[in-house]
Amino acid sequence: MANTFETVGVVGLGTMGAGIAEVFARAGIAVVGVETDPGALERGRGHLEGSTGRALSRGRLTEAEQAAILGRVAFTTSLEDLADCDLVVEAVPEVMDFKRALFTDLDRVCKPSAVLATNTSSLSVTAIAATTTRPGRVVGMHFFNPAPVMRLVEVVRTVTTEDGLADEVAGLARRLGKTPVTVADRAGFVVNRLLLPYLNHAAVLLEHGLSTRDDIDTAMRLGAGFPMGPFALLDLIGLDTSHEICEALFQESRERRHAPAPVLRELVTAGLLGRKSGRGFFHGEEPPANPSSEEKPSASTVAVLGGTAGNGTGAAEGAAEAFAARLSAAGFKTAPVEDADLVVAVSRTPVIEQAVRLPHPERLVGLNLVGDQVAEVASTVLTSPGAAQVARGLLRILGRTPVSCRDRAGFVVGALLHPHLNDAVRMYESGYASMEDIDTAMRLGCGYPAGPFEMLDRLGLEAVRDGLRALYAEYRDPSFTPAPLLDRLVTAGVRSIRDLSS
Ligand code: CAA
Repeated sequence: MANTFETVGVVGLGTMGAGIAEVFARAGIAVVGVETDPGALERGRGHLEGSTGRALSRGRLTEAEQAAILGRVAFTTSLEDLADCDLVVEAVPEVMDFKRALFTDLDRVCKPSAVLATNTSSLSVTAIAATTTRPGRVVGMHFFNPAPVMRLVEVVRTVTTEDGLADEVAGLARRLGKTPVTVADRAGFVVNRLLLPYLNHAAVLLEHGLSTRDDIDTAMRLGAGFPMGPFALLDLIGLDTSHEICEALFQESRERRHAPAPVLRELVTAGLLGRKSGRGFFHGEEPPANPSSEEKPSASTVAVLGGTAGNGTGAAEGAAEAFAARLSAAGFKTAPVEDADLVVAVSRTPVIEQAVRLPHPERLVGLNLVGDQVAEVASTVLTSPGAAQVARGLLRILGRTPVSCRDRAGFVVGALLHPHLNDAVRMYESGYASMEDIDTAMRLGCGYPAGPFEMLDRLGLEAVRDGLRALYAEYRDPSFTPAPLLDRLVTAGVRSIRDLSS
């Protein structure tokens, strides 16, 4: 008979465990919350009271509903209290030895029919299951932070999971108001396998001095439409967890892209773990909603150039003309390139070659307009700080948020987004997950406005393929080579990658 999951245990009431307990309690399910000692138990209770209190203050819950939710959670420090649970979800720190010891205990304490689930984000569910006498009743049930808000649950079945159990757990996830995506047991599953390499790459680019923390975050929020920038998100996930996931991915793939950025290791070693410790990439302050607007443009004359030879397409020339027209309409005077105080090269590729052909290369900046809101302003090694500052001020007047960066392939958004989308194509090509599941997972697990395949279609397969080729040419990292499928689709003139799945 199918399990009805009347009572559920949650072991570990840190940020994730408390959030998971809240999700079950909100769905009317009785919860037994377990922590190791009374102090940790009180902190766990505090997480639950804080989160439901926040909903109360926003008018999302009544006092009676909050009391009912909290009343469904029994707090204990004894694992023996899990004896009658139909399901136990483990959410303890990501240390295999802890998990193995815990699952051995859970196996002993819980009734034989109980399902044992791990919320691990990076460890092998199969290896955890193998410590029990019931590997067929063990699954991954992976929630996303903040658990009460993010609508995805990854259900992980191993080679030993009983037939039908993953479907039962997926049914439970639906009862919780979540959307399940069922996957096999591979490091990082779908979301972390795609998300963490992108976040890690942002940390690597920060270390390379491509741009600043705030500008990279702004570029990805306003330019790519992600709900949070990579550094704010790393701080939310926790830098220790992020480091561990990258390490697990690297152990499996040996790809440089997965090797944790040194800055992650340094921050973790220093105990700066992100929100949970009060400081990570951010120092406890909220990430700025809108970056500073200190720059005042003083350029009296501006010249606008189109793209470089390699990028000198009609589209690039058109973009330059349109930009020049907007400048004139806003009252800026244009001048021939020899005389202008500021030269703006509208380009998707680095502009140093254009700069060295000018009489005043220090006056040139690269400009890439991303979406409706962001303008990437690229400084070459010759650009004067004054010219870049003037360009930023001018873009603000035109209603764009400027993001400063070095003159490198992809600037910021392309450098981060194109490899991220390429990873999604590679995942699909490997047969691990369908395009629909990958799109659903990234939309509901990370709040993306569109899934990676929807984004690929929107940006254009050829543009992304070319962006990847440029990145590869610059950095020679093999993981930037376009996925063979992407290359073939462009060669075949296919416009929508999602046509393959219909
Ligand atoms: N706990 C409970 N509820 C929370 C919350 C929290 N920590 N943070 C926000 N909320 C709720 C708010 O109460 C609000 O709900 P209502 O609309 O009902 O009032 C809602 O979420 C939106 O909150 P805000 O308006 O304050 O904030 P926002 O619009 O900026 O959204 C966000 C916040 C939902 C976190 C959003 O920025 C987002 O989606 N970020 C991406 C998060 C993400 O990618 N998570 C996955 C990380 S990967 C992972 O977790 C897996 C792993 O193994 C590492």
